[in-house]
Amino acid sequence: DWTMAAFKDQEIAKIREQVGDGKVICGLSGGVDSSVVAVLLHEAIGEQLTCVFVDTGFMRMGEAEQVVTLFRDHYNIQLIHVDASEKFFTALGDEFDPEKKRKTIGGLFIDIFEEEANKVGGADFLAQGTLYPDVIESVSFTGGPSVTIKSHHNVGGLPERMNMKLVEPLRELFKDEVRDLGRELGLPDTFVDRHPFPGPGLAIRIPGQPLTPEKCDILRKADAIYLDEIRKAGLYDEIWQAFAVLLPVRTVGVMGDARTYDFVCALRAVTSTDGMTADYYHFDHEFLGRVSNRIINEVRGINRVVYDCTSKPPGTIEWE
Ligand code: XMP
Repeated sequence: DWTMAAFKDQEIAKIREQVGDGKVICGLSGGVDSSVVAVLLHEAIGEQLTCVFVDTGFMRMGEAEQVVTLFRDHYNIQLIHVDASEKFFTALGDEFDPEKKRKTIGGLFIDIFEEEANKVGGADFLAQGTLYPDVIESVSFTGGPSVTIKSHHNVGGLPERMNMKLVEPLRELFKDEVRDLGRELGLPDTFVDRHPFPGPGLAIRIPGQPLTPEKCDILRKADAIYLDEIRKAGLYDEIWQAFAVLLPVRTVGVMGDARTYDFVCALRAVTSTDGMTADYYHFDHEFLGRVSNRIINEVRGINRVVYDCTSKPPGTIEWE
């Protein structure tokens, strides 16, 4: 008789056995998965755990503060907060190829972990929130030849030089199970039920163009308005994932009696049970009109909003 409570106890026992009295470092991304891993590890091994929150500069509005408050202040977990946004922008330069961006971001993440691990006197293990779908999608496309669709930046093992073993307690779980585990661990519903957020963050939601802090700011504002309206309409929990994408296209508009020439923002929302397949969400048109108006009125730099009605397959959920 399988229950999440039993799974939790079993994983805690496994972690204790695997880790012994070793030190573990865990990367927090702000997402549900890495948060659940962190709290699970904290319960299993307490002070042997140090979390590193690498602020890439690609986080959503207010997210960095929320992570620090929850983990450092509420859970009392040892947390190192690294503001690495400059490093990420520098490393990415003018790159706009999706796979190269993912590889650069993933590589820099690992480098920063290593640096931080060394600062706290070395760690023996690295904990990651790898899920079952991540494992499958990074390996091959089901039924076809072995093709990498996207290199998820939290999968793929660690460079030999790091000399750390992996702890991946969520490897056999789907997203809904991770949420149940989070609740079992006492994480608040508002946190556990948050939409998934990819490790590379907003960087993969600004496709086809070099990334700049200004573009990230524009996207962050549009995204926050969109999610605010989704929450107000009571739709947040019906939707698997919703976010804004900043397109590399400028179009002509009119504001008052002046001509504008600004960027296009695409809105994405899907329903799904595991992220492997997804249907686009059928908003009513009044809702879309309201969001569009707010974004165009409140976010300088965007003068047109479009809605993405692509399901997965053939589209992926993220645009990159
Ligand atoms: P796609 O775009 O492949 O996304 O349909 C499926 C789910 O995975 C998330 N995603 C990621 N999560 N690191 C992550 O932790 C990544 O590099 C990454 N890329 C995509 C995506 O947000 C969706 O929930």
